[in-house]
Amino acid sequence: MAPASLILLGATVILQVDLLPDKKFLLLPPVNFTIKAINLAQVLLRWEPNTDQEQRNVQLGYHVKINAPQEEDYETRNTESRRITILHKGFSASVQTVPWNDRSLQPSSWVSAELRAPPGSPGTSIVNLTCTTNTKANNYTHLRPYQVSLHCTWLVGKDAPEDTQYFLYYRYGSWTEECQEYSKDTLQRNIACWFPRTFINSKGRDLLAVYVNGSSEEAVIKPFDELFALHAIDRVNPPAKVTAEIEGTCLSIQWEKPVSAFPVHCFDYEVKIYNTRKGYFQTEKMTTNTFISVIDGISEYSIQVRAAVSSVCRAVGPSSEWSQPIYVGNDEQKPWTKWFLIAVMATICFILLIFSLICRMVLVIRWNVRHCCVFLGSLSKMSVDQIKNW
Ligand SMILES: *[C@@H]1O[C@H](CO)[C@@H](O)[C@H](O)[C@H]1NC(C)=O
Ligand SMILES: *[C@@H]1O[C@H](CO)[C@@H](O)[C@H](O)[C@H]1NC(C)=O
Ligand SMILES: *[C@@H]1O[C@H](CO)[C@@H](O)[C@H](O)[C@H]1NC(C)=O
Ligand SMILES: *[C@@H]1O[C@H](CO)[C@@H](O)[C@H](O)[C@H]1NC(C)=O
Repeated sequence: MAPASLILLGATVILQVDLLPDKKFLLLPPVNFTIKAINLAQVLLRWEPNTDQEQRNVQLGYHVKINAPQEEDYETRNTESRRITILHKGFSASVQTVPWNDRSLQPSSWVSAELRAPPGSPGTSIVNLTCTTNTKANNYTHLRPYQVSLHCTWLVGKDAPEDTQYFLYYRYGSWTEECQEYSKDTLQRNIACWFPRTFINSKGRDLLAVYVNGSSEEAVIKPFDELFALHAIDRVNPPAKVTAEIEGTCLSIQWEKPVSAFPVHCFDYEVKIYNTRKGYFQTEKMTTNTFISVIDGISEYSIQVRAAVSSVCRAVGPSSEWSQPIYVGNDEQKPWTKWFLIAVMATICFILLIFSLICRMVLVIRWNVRHCCVFLGSLSKMSVDQIKNW
């Protein structure tokens, strides 16, 4: 509010100075400015032109300033405006009348309105909400060839009572649905939700609104909402039908576009080739559905491909998972490996044998020496005794 009042102050000062020469045309602020939540994460701002406004041949418009939850600033000639926004922190905005063309006129003062944050005890709302979407082929109807699923998970608020129950809703465009398939924690509180099919248009540009409120006997549970950009949460499917073959020294790999509502030209791919003999990875980026590489032909290769919707068709998001590895290439090196292994084992055995022989020889020698000494000792002792006896 501080910058707004400063602007206001500045405006009135200039107005007073300007007013002096002739009686200046004064713009009056709009009236009956209201903010209403009309849907999940959606508000309607509405105001009326001031009926006391002196009519001159000047076109009027409105300057709207959203102060919370996120600052935004725009002009319009309408007397209403819809905004998509999170609402769990409350929402406030101001509006003023501005000359539409004649910039020499001063704008009016501001009027403000507010939508309070929904009630609830602190620490009771969910945290760490994450959602992902995924596209599947729709076998049931040809009208919608693809169906989009939605999966969301969250953590229970740290101060939520044990009897808390949470409920999740999503809105996409004008469609709102409540979750029917929850996963629960050990206290039977909902902590994840699965929509096998939704009204989400995977090629659409609307934001996905997700809203989670809750109930408890012991506390008022604070609701939470969040907006998701589809490109950021879409789990793109890996490319389909990856095949590879080797002819001579030519490795050629083919695949099909992932199951997706986006057409063929909308994908970027990455191919990962793992040379199992040399043990190194080669990755290549491309936009076509084939990749041909020259190889030395005496190795087995493991091949995986992943896809991402290209920036040509949508804002850049995460890539798909790698496809299941497929293996090509001959195993000529295997007998060689086997012989090598056998040779290594034989060498090790031989070395061990030699060692044990040496050890034994040392032992035998030591034993012999010791016994020899004992024998000599007893011999000498005996001889002493015998000499004595003699
Ligand atoms: C503003 O609202 C009041 C009461 O709701 C109504 O009487 C009045 O006509 C409205 N003013 C305009 C310009 O619509
Ligand atoms: C939840 O989110 C907070 C911050 O957003 C992060 O610090 C924390 O590690 C997250 N907790 C879990 C279990 O992911
Ligand atoms: C649609 O059909 C494909 C194969 O024709 C199958 O793999 C897939 O599971 C089916 N999907 C559904 C939702 O039934
Ligand atoms: C949660 O929100 C939905 C949709 O706004 C509403 O119908 C429902 O009554 C709310 N539930 C609770 C427990 O507040």
